[in-house]
Amino acid sequence: MKNNAIYVMASLLLLVVSACSNDSEDDLIDQMQDPDPITYIDDVKAIIDNNCNNCHSDPPTNGAPIALVTYAQVKNSAENGSLISRIQRQVGESGAMPLGGPRLPQSLIDVVVQWQTNGFVEN
Ligand code: HEC
Repeated sequence: MKNNAIYVMASLLLLVVSACSNDSEDDLIDQMQDPDPITYIDDVKAIIDNNCNNCHSDPPTNGAPIALVTYAQVKNSAENGSLISRIQRQVGESGAMPLGGPRLPQSLIDVVVQWQTNGFVEN
């Protein structure tokens, strides 16, 4: 009887240990299977190029105060400036970008916000 109890406890322990190691294996596989993390080069650059760079070119035109052409420029404005807040504003709200609208589709705004969440990865 005593031996059986030890056997059961040992089995339970083994189960717990193997369940834990399975979990971390799954986590690793999840990370490896995310083939398309959001990066500046793959995702964000095209959004800015297509929607912002007729004014935020280098040098900027139409009264825009800053260029948003390079990774460093876009990252700096997103990290230290108002870029992310401005693209989230509604048309007609003060400072909303792109100036004069239309507002970016929410899916593109989400990409830029996710880029921030991931730590502004370049490529
Ligand atoms: C039609 C021209 C035009 C377009 C297109 C445009 N902007 Fe602007 N942007 C401006 C002007 C003019 C200002 C200055 C007035 C102001 O601050 O609202 C400005 C200001 C900004 C600023 C504040 C810069 C600072 O540090 O003072 C940011 C950030 C910005 N725009 C981001 C964007 C983004 C991102 C896009 C594209 C999604 C965009 N803009 C599209 C004209 C434009």
